[in-house]
Amino acid sequence: MKGLVLSGGYGTRLRPLTYSQQKQLIPVANKPILFYAIEDIIAANVHDIGIIVGPNRDQVEKTVQSRDWDANIEFIYQDAPRGLAHTVLISEKFLDGEPFVMYLGDNLLCDGIVDHANRFRSSGADASILLTEVSNPERFGVAELNECGEVVRLVEKPKVPPSNLALVGVYLFKPIIFDAVKNINPSWRNELEITDAIQWLVENGYHVQASVVKGWWKDTGMPEDILSANNLILDEIEASCSGAVMDESVVQGRVEIGQGTILENGSVIRGPAIIGRECKISNSYIGPYTSIGDGCEILDSEIEGSIVMDGTRIDLRRKIVDSLIGANVRISESSKKPHGYRFVIGDSSEVKV
Ligand code: TTP
Repeated sequence: MKGLVLSGGYGTRLRPLTYSQQKQLIPVANKPILFYAIEDIIAANVHDIGIIVGPNRDQVEKTVQSRDWDANIEFIYQDAPRGLAHTVLISEKFLDGEPFVMYLGDNLLCDGIVDHANRFRSSGADASILLTEVSNPERFGVAELNECGEVVRLVEKPKVPPSNLALVGVYLFKPIIFDAVKNINPSWRNELEITDAIQWLVENGYHVQASVVKGWWKDTGMPEDILSANNLILDEIEASCSGAVMDESVVQGRVEIGQGTILENGSVIRGPAIIGRECKISNSYIGPYTSIGDGCEILDSEIEGSIVMDGTRIDLRRKIVDSLIGANVRISESSKKPHGYRFVIGDSSEVKV
């Protein structure tokens, strides 16, 4: 079996962050979201992985290559986000007639995909989709199953949902999917939809099985999804400290502190939280569910429930909550007159004071 991870797309709902970095590289608990998908695929004993890249392809390739993976990894270039089924179409050579798992690189699954992959391997099904129960199915792609649990219909954002089972961004296919993607037409949004390809399989008598996910699932399309994924991952973090805790600073609960990081001047870190390498935290409070990247400085500030990316400096004397702060950002107080907020903020930013 091979793996196909999708790391293309524009990530418009995550602007301005996605102007400068690919959505799937945004860190959750200090690790690019994309890495969770790659790890899940390798854990399912798949060691031949194609990664779809589009905008920011160099960034994605460099980040993936910065780590040693127990897998052969190839990059497949998609010239524009032409749909999930289009990524299958352009990967035909790489997939080379083998069954494969397709994993959206911005999705996170608590329990990984090992059980689902094994079930697919032993089932003889032509395709398998992962589903999860949701309370608001009208906002998702929804599956209708028959009494044997087989998929009979997929509907995108239905006004009257046939079930409360939403599609999770992981799919398993046999090569018959190529017949499907070659036989469908682009949708109203001019994309080749994977739901249409799966519907084609159903309508042409192929066996599409459903596998219901037990633990949590997150599609990190919006800022609040990224923060909530950060909470879920930090809930499982273990305490470890490779830095220095000085001047009566205190670490409470499960906190991971990276090498070269210094906590000083009575700082308080309350877990679950993660602080990267070479950071300076001085006279500050870092509250639960916060991830601070490498090389950050947090001075005389308080921050909680947030993600702060590499190289950022915060010197604010106030509390920041529930925020997604990019790399190399500077947030500070100004003593200059006239007093007031001074902003240098990129397009599509969001500020709440
Ligand atoms: P989406 O979330 O549908 O699209 P997007 O990531 O561009 O975000 P937005 O809607 O905010 O603009 O895509 C789901 C996943 O699939 C995501 O990881 C990006 C990836 N993808 C591709 O790699 N190629 C494509 O053609 C499409 C449509 C998505």
